[in-house]
Amino acid sequence: MNNKVASLNEEFMKKKIDGKDENKPNYGLVAVKYSIYMVIIGIIGIVIALIGSQVYFPFNIILFLGGIPLAFICLYTGLSYIPFYYFMLKPEEKNDFWYEVFEKNIQGNEHVLDVGCGKGRVAIKVAKLLNTGKVVGIDLFKGSSGYSPDPAYRNAKIEKVFDKTEFKHGNLLKLEFPDNEFDIVTSGSVLHDVHGDKNKEMAMKEIFRVLKPGGKFIAFEMFRDVRMYLVFLFFSFVFKPKHYWTELLNKFNFKNIKVEYYSEYLNYGLFIAEK
Ligand SMILES: C[S@@+](CC[C@H](N)C(=O)[O-])C[C@H]1O[C@@H](n2cnc3c(N)ncnc32)[C@H](O)[C@@H]1O
Repeated sequence: MNNKVASLNEEFMKKKIDGKDENKPNYGLVAVKYSIYMVIIGIIGIVIALIGSQVYFPFNIILFLGGIPLAFICLYTGLSYIPFYYFMLKPEEKNDFWYEVFEKNIQGNEHVLDVGCGKGRVAIKVAKLLNTGKVVGIDLFKGSSGYSPDPAYRNAKIEKVFDKTEFKHGNLLKLEFPDNEFDIVTSGSVLHDVHGDKNKEMAMKEIFRVLKPGGKFIAFEMFRDVRMYLVFLFFSFVFKPKHYWTELLNKFNFKNIKVEYYSEYLNYGLFIAEK
């Protein structure tokens, strides 16, 4: 039995694969979970304001001034997330922009690393384009995209690329791979999740280190801009503007840097750079 099968929770695989969702991969839509939380907090805000309308001064003012902004901000961001994310993470069969990019950049024999792989959304798309190549996905598996590699393996099995994938625990800030190991490193909506400028720099340095000379880094990130402020309000500060990524890639000596909006209509950005 090879290592990855040994590390896999066989019961988990069997239960899901034999169950009614046998043919459906599940890559998770974390954002929907956040939307629901925001809407719930928004409703709590309305309740606080309503309680405020029933009590005497000064508690009515305090509850009103607390409840109304809370309700507005949370309902606004919670509800506006939904169409926004639908367009970016819409159901797999309709979502072809990843393939457009990968098809232009993957020959089939590459050794690929997908950082922050989560449930395998990006790594599995890469694996589908590989013949002799392999893709390794690493993640902290701290919850936002599952707690273990099992969901990613399950998806790889359903998508018939199990043999071309390996998923394991790993930290992007300290990659446990030798220098010059990978032809391609991919990252789908991960770098904004690496908090703080220093950590983002460490991540970039590590990605550069493990790439072979001439190897490519391909990443998708949301760029902060005016449109994002309209949807996310002050939560937009989690994200960085387009020029930030160009400067960071330059700082770590990447070449042929292309950082661009992937679509005119969304602030989803793609960057491709070479070591
Ligand atoms: C928004 S999710 C994207 C998951 C996946 N790439 C996808 O497209 O569905 C961000 C992922 O990055 C992972 N992540 C954040 N910081 C990380 C780090 N320092 N090392 C490895 N993974 C990390 C999180 O655990 C999470 O699974």
